[in-house]
Amino acid sequence: MIEIMQNGHCLASVTWDGKQRTVAQLLMELSIALELPCGGHGRCGKCLARISGDVEPADAQEQSHLSAPQLREGLRLACRTVICGGTVQVELPASAAMRIETGAGRAGMVWDNGEGLGVSADIGTTTVVMQMWDRQTHQLLGVQACANPQNHFGADVISRMEASMGGKDKELQQTVTSCLAELARQLCQTAGREKEEIRTAVFTGNTVMLYLLCGYPVRELAAAPFTMSHSFGRSVPASQLGLLWHPACEVYLPPCIGAYMGADITCGILASGLLQEKKPSLLADIGTNGEIALMKEGRLYCCATAAGPAFEGVGISSGSCALPGAIDRVWTEQGKLYTHVIGEKQAAGLCGSGLLDAAAALLRLGLVEESGYMEEQAVELQGDVFLTAKDIRALQLAKSAVCAGIQTLLDSVDLTAPDIGKTWLAGGFGSRLRIQSAVEIGLLPADLPKAEPGGNLALAGAAMLLASRDCRDTAEKIAGEAVIIELAANPVFQERFMADIILGEIQS
Ligand code: FES
Repeated sequence: MIEIMQNGHCLASVTWDGKQRTVAQLLMELSIALELPCGGHGRCGKCLARISGDVEPADAQEQSHLSAPQLREGLRLACRTVICGGTVQVELPASAAMRIETGAGRAGMVWDNGEGLGVSADIGTTTVVMQMWDRQTHQLLGVQACANPQNHFGADVISRMEASMGGKDKELQQTVTSCLAELARQLCQTAGREKEEIRTAVFTGNTVMLYLLCGYPVRELAAAPFTMSHSFGRSVPASQLGLLWHPACEVYLPPCIGAYMGADITCGILASGLLQEKKPSLLADIGTNGEIALMKEGRLYCCATAAGPAFEGVGISSGSCALPGAIDRVWTEQGKLYTHVIGEKQAAGLCGSGLLDAAAALLRLGLVEESGYMEEQAVELQGDVFLTAKDIRALQLAKSAVCAGIQTLLDSVDLTAPDIGKTWLAGGFGSRLRIQSAVEIGLLPADLPKAEPGGNLALAGAAMLLASRDCRDTAEKIAGEAVIIELAANPVFQERFMADIILGEIQS
């Protein structure tokens, strides 16, 4: 068992899946964010944690940051310590620099009276993450995550909808419900509890994921005008989803704002604290579908922009998910290109954050022009992993869709980027990307005040909805009152999109 502790409390305990990864990477997968001041390059020596068990010994680089007494005490650098077995204890320091993104201890997490167990899950297109809570003590008993097994039907929501419309709807539904049942089983086993003790659950996700979970026909979500007959914001018996937990167990499905503004963004808005901000503030969930929410003077405005799957590594010649073997960081030092590979392995691919860094680095080195033109058709990053002119083109389209979406949303309410007080970046890719690279290539407007990674806000919001009925009322208000700004036929968006295609800093 891998246990993550802080202040004597267990934040998460997970079974090892056999994959080598650093402690910092595991924390990220579990949505427990640890400050990595040098981006996890092993250069700053700041990501200290007490780590014991099945981990690789400290290498020379790590040893250069740690004194002999620190090493004897079991202190290690989370970004350098590689997990290589199933028994590991990680004790995180109780420092203010630590931001826990599991939803545990999140401000505003108020609990109604309850008994038994509760589970909250984020059904992402790529991964499914579930937390288990004791509803009486309000303690987080564990977190489990796995790849969304619907991946077999295609990597993105479009291919899943095609599969569903092609008669695979029942299979898609069963695949995800089995996955949720299995995650709950593992969590119960770890916590020494029974699945029949699960009395309530909250499952969030984008609109397509919730439609597929409920077995609803997705045709209306697949074509213009993208209507939504089911907007959720209600409970269904767990047994109706084939989940044989407590006989009275209800599953709450949070409300969706629109066909492309799902319950995940409703949960993200709730958990981010966007509603409490005095100054206009922004939340951007950047993925295949970029969802952007803006709060101004008590009013919420949202838009969805189709970035395409480039940020997930799809359609990129060496593209890959953020898994061991993927280049996740690229930087330059004295005119030379350096790369970091997840799991310290031979590079086998390039994930979204690596793609962004690589484009920024090539731009810095003059190997790619602002127009996207590359003299060489491909540049070697490491081994067989290349960045090609075609990849740069795909990135330009994706990043322009996001930047133009943010600008159009701001423009529609007479704001510019410097008016924004706070920006959160949500979602897996949004939390991993390096802000500096995002600004250098023009994914985010350069005059937008510094954005911060928010971690898995959808999961944190789901936990809040599990804890309190009042939060459910707030979520329903968010979804009911949000103003959707349509981008598809919006001339401002089209103009911005064309202008933002350049690789380089963009002012709002
Ligand atoms: S984050 Fe800098 S050494 Fe780990």
